[in-house]
Amino acid sequence: MHTRYATMRSVLTVQASKLPEEHPMQGKGSHYMAVAIQIRNLTRRFNDLVAVDNISFDIDHGEIFGLLGPNGAGKTTTLSMLSTMLKPTSGSATINGIDIEQDEDGVRKSIGIVFQDQSLDEELTAWENMDFHGRLYRIPADIRKQRITELLNLVELEDRKNDIVKTFSGGMRRRLEIARGLLHHPSVLFLDEPTLGLDPQTRNHLWQYIATLAKEKGITIILTTHYMDEADRLCNRIAIIDHGKIIALDTPKNLKDGIGGDVVTIKSPDPAAIVAVLTEPWITRTEKHKDEVNISLQNAEQHISAIVTLLTTHQVSIESIAIHKPTLEDVFLSFTGKTIREEEADHKTNMRMYQRRVRH
Ligand SMILES: Nc1ncnc2c1ncn2[C@@H]1O[C@H](COP(=O)(O)OP(=O)(O)OP(=O)(O)O)[C@@H](O)[C@H]1O
Ligand SMILES: [Mg+2]
Repeated sequence: MHTRYATMRSVLTVQASKLPEEHPMQGKGSHYMAVAIQIRNLTRRFNDLVAVDNISFDIDHGEIFGLLGPNGAGKTTTLSMLSTMLKPTSGSATINGIDIEQDEDGVRKSIGIVFQDQSLDEELTAWENMDFHGRLYRIPADIRKQRITELLNLVELEDRKNDIVKTFSGGMRRRLEIARGLLHHPSVLFLDEPTLGLDPQTRNHLWQYIATLAKEKGITIILTTHYMDEADRLCNRIAIIDHGKIIALDTPKNLKDGIGGDVVTIKSPDPAAIVAVLTEPWITRTEKHKDEVNISLQNAEQHISAIVTLLTTHQVSIESIAIHKPTLEDVFLSFTGKTIREEEADHKTNMRMYQRRVRH
């Protein structure tokens, strides 16, 4: 945590002297440039590990774009490169047309960052944390005061402005970090796991702020999360990232539509038999996963009895059967053959093996 904090401070300190008071994008409206972020073949290696593997996509102005993936998928590494905190191994990217390697200061002027790890000064009050950031960005005192008040109001922390951050809950800290990230009026905001570890109610609240920001301030937001339901509700488009690669990219609706209708999950001691038996034309997809089979079809309710009859006729025993509308979890599973939790468990095992290898 301290390393990240120190890094961020040094970034801010370096850039502070060169920052204009207002960002040039401010007030020019969404017609200024359609593409906010352009990524081309972006790659980052750490020794023999390819953390981000040749990714390419564009993000439009005013979009809320979600990078979704399990632990170790490469989300933070991607954001670190886009925010000039980390050099790409190869490939390129631009923020508002500015190249991340050619003009780091230019990029930093137009972005706000909220890191995965907390980077507030715990001994300072909410106001002081904001004010410190504003001074780094050379925002004149009167404007600074006005903006801090406005932003603390936005994140509903105005009444706690004189309390030290140490006394804040996780949700309050997150909200304060977001407010701070917006103080210099960035046109692009990077949020790395903004709701990680927060309770569902606070998470919900925070998502509402994020949606309001994108809408009212016309800010482009790129966020990472592994909460699929939240990404689904909030993001205009989602890129699913796994092992450093983009495995799917579309609107949440299109991604879910790609599953091919409702999902019927059947648990059975013989899942392979289910796949063999269920070959009706109204079934769009069958996928075996451990002792379960996920079946996609339109209007599942109308076909349940036919499915049960078919399986009974072929003497396939059923332990349980459930219907649900497709979720991004189903999308992830259909692309990777694993659930996001399994992928995370694998990542942890690999990390342990790697650490053991390094130690010996
Ligand atoms: N500085 C580093 N040195 C070596 N390996 C690194 C470094 N930073 C990241 N990695 C590795 O790169 C891969 C991607 O990490 P990254 O932090 O981008 O994942 P993530 O998707 O943000 O995961 P999480 O959901 O846990 O935050 C992981 O395997 C990680 O161990
Ligand atoms: Mg991360």
